[in-house]
Amino acid sequence: MSDIEQINAPISIETVGDIALVCIDSPPVNATGIAVREGLQTAMRQLNKAGRAQVIVIYCAGRTFIAGADIREFGKPPLEPHLPDLCNEIEASAIPVISVLHGTTLGGGLEVAMATHARIGIKGLKVGLPEVLLGILPGAGGTQRAPRLVGVPAALGMITTGRHIPAAEALEMGLLDGLVEGAPRDVALAAAQDVVDGKLATRRTDQITVVPDQGAIDALAEKLRVSQPNLFSVHKCVEAVAAATRPLTEGLAIERDLFWQCMQTPQRDGLIHAFFAERAVANVPEKKVTPRDVNAIGVIGGGTMGSGIATSALLAGLSVTLIELKQEALDRGVATITKNLEGAVKRGKLAEAKFAATLENLTPSTDMKSLAEADLVVEAVFEDMAVKKQIFAALDAICKPSAVLASNTSYLDINEIAAATKRPESVLGLHFFSPAHVMRLLEVVVADKTAPETTATGFLLAKKMRKIAVRAGVCDGFIGNRIMTHYGLTAAYLMMDGASPQQIDSALEGFGFAMGPYRVGDLAGLDIGWASRKRKAPDRPPEERYIEINDRICEQGWFGRKTGKGFYIYEGKSSVPNPEVATIIEDERTRAGVIARDFTDAEIVDRYMTAMIAESARVLEDGIALRPVDIDAVFLFGYGFPRFRGGPLQYADTLGAAEIVKRIKTYAEEDPHYWRVPALLETMAENGTTFADLNKGV
Ligand code: 3HC
Repeated sequence: MSDIEQINAPISIETVGDIALVCIDSPPVNATGIAVREGLQTAMRQLNKAGRAQVIVIYCAGRTFIAGADIREFGKPPLEPHLPDLCNEIEASAIPVISVLHGTTLGGGLEVAMATHARIGIKGLKVGLPEVLLGILPGAGGTQRAPRLVGVPAALGMITTGRHIPAAEALEMGLLDGLVEGAPRDVALAAAQDVVDGKLATRRTDQITVVPDQGAIDALAEKLRVSQPNLFSVHKCVEAVAAATRPLTEGLAIERDLFWQCMQTPQRDGLIHAFFAERAVANVPEKKVTPRDVNAIGVIGGGTMGSGIATSALLAGLSVTLIELKQEALDRGVATITKNLEGAVKRGKLAEAKFAATLENLTPSTDMKSLAEADLVVEAVFEDMAVKKQIFAALDAICKPSAVLASNTSYLDINEIAAATKRPESVLGLHFFSPAHVMRLLEVVVADKTAPETTATGFLLAKKMRKIAVRAGVCDGFIGNRIMTHYGLTAAYLMMDGASPQQIDSALEGFGFAMGPYRVGDLAGLDIGWASRKRKAPDRPPEERYIEINDRICEQGWFGRKTGKGFYIYEGKSSVPNPEVATIIEDERTRAGVIARDFTDAEIVDRYMTAMIAESARVLEDGIALRPVDIDAVFLFGYGFPRFRGGPLQYADTLGAAEIVKRIKTYAEEDPHYWRVPALLETMAENGTTFADLNKGV
């Protein structure tokens, strides 16, 4: 016989004999929002007061045990009961409390579990303390209880990386006391009975002494100082774990203090914005439209991009037909894909046992007619409009009527490409980023006549490939490359006017970019920008200040890494500045009558970021990006923008529109053509509004 009492909306207590089953049911992920905390506290107090149960067991309904604190509450005034206090209360319960974990038990969820007196996992479970990825640290006892359960080195590892730990490993580490199969309620009942029968031991973490390991703490602290100089919270994580050798209450107080230090940084805002940005970009007008099926895809072009796209599709379990005109190029493409897949095995992205079967899903062909049955074709040949039009006209004749035809162009007009077919409604841009099997961003470029169903199919493909799709409109360079082309000019102006490429790179790396623009240019290939500049030369406005340094470098045949020389000289894994570039810069300054001046690193960052924000505002004004968060996602997931800053427009909000407008007006005194105040920023400055305001409702 059992009876169920509903404590509040998410929390209920089911009594089965001497066992009290406390169930949390708060979709989607049972986060510990205020209602969960209140209900859980009431349940614990009520059960302890009644004193009838022999064991209390906490489990969750739905897809997962608690996946963490409710991130949406961060930044708002905290409401009682606070999670750390609730965890302490659970641990202090006179009646033994155990927990049954399934799904993804993360952050505050694992902290609740660690406060219970034993933990049983259900197969498929993953656990972790990913707070560091949100710019904070486990603030509900995690930094104190994890070292007690798993030891200092393992606790440091899980807390400073935030990695999701598979159940078997969690069992081995000592985070779990058992691992079984079954439905959460059934497992909960059985585990509680085991406690009653003395088969499952319970213990409290305040009775466990931590073995000190100052060596592990010092070594990691030193390593992180070098590898993560910018990230505030990771260093605080180490400090918090170091406090775990103290009595639990003291350690918890130190953790609390460090947690609040993290909560007050803009990095926390930035990282949480990045977390939601990844999800918000899926909210597009076509979200509810049924996509076409995508199982078999065609890729035209076996170069770096085409091979990367094909690899990504194969890893997603799709079958791929790769087209190249010549057998030799086709063989090279197949070799690249094979190498990519081998790399995926090494990185743990593809099981070794699945390697052969995955490669078998690839059909190389020199005949476009092999694409007749493809559900979707991605053209990834070089950037030449005439060639692309020819290909699309041919595809129109070959492909089945339901096929979606996509171009991976980085800049070219998708409307013009679509017009080469009799089915422009089935044509769109799918702009992948190199290396396409690694980079997570995919711009889904919607042309004038693209049908909603076609766009939805682009999003479906991204989902299958586990990519982050951002909806973009048609213009030269779409969202990312259009904005990059604009701020790339700032870098060129700074270089011409006195900053060295190395100073510019190091200033921006100091800001947090994975790589500065000149290192990125060398990596991507300087010839790409050169070709684009040549293409645009006839339309370049006469007022535009044109810097020829990059052209001079390309004329030498120096295209960056692939030629061994660019802004830097590459030997093996090391690189040094190319001294001949310094000479080219000097010559260009002399030719143009420019007298070099000094820039501080802060001035470099300010100009570069102001240019990025200004063009982003124009991209919004033109409707090329739906919302500021879409632009943030493009830069976070495609351009190495520092995640802890949340994206260019999240960063812009930390400066305020008025400051940005002021900067643009100051810079415009030197170059009024380049530095123009976008109307959107002007209005925002006048009204005191932010980009976050424009994201509302996403
Ligand atoms: N708070 C609030 N909302 C959350 C959330 C959380 N902790 N975790 C997930 N969500 C929301 C998502 O935003 C999404 O909302 P939407 O449907 O409106 O877009 C929904 O739940 C489903 O999430 P996903 O789309 O991400 O679903 P998946 O199944 O792909 O992934 C997950 C599930 C692995 C749990 C993933 O959502 C995740 O990693 N969540 C964050 C976990 C985390 O960081 N926890 C620590 C929080 S901080 C903390 O606990 C502080 C403590 O120490 C005091």
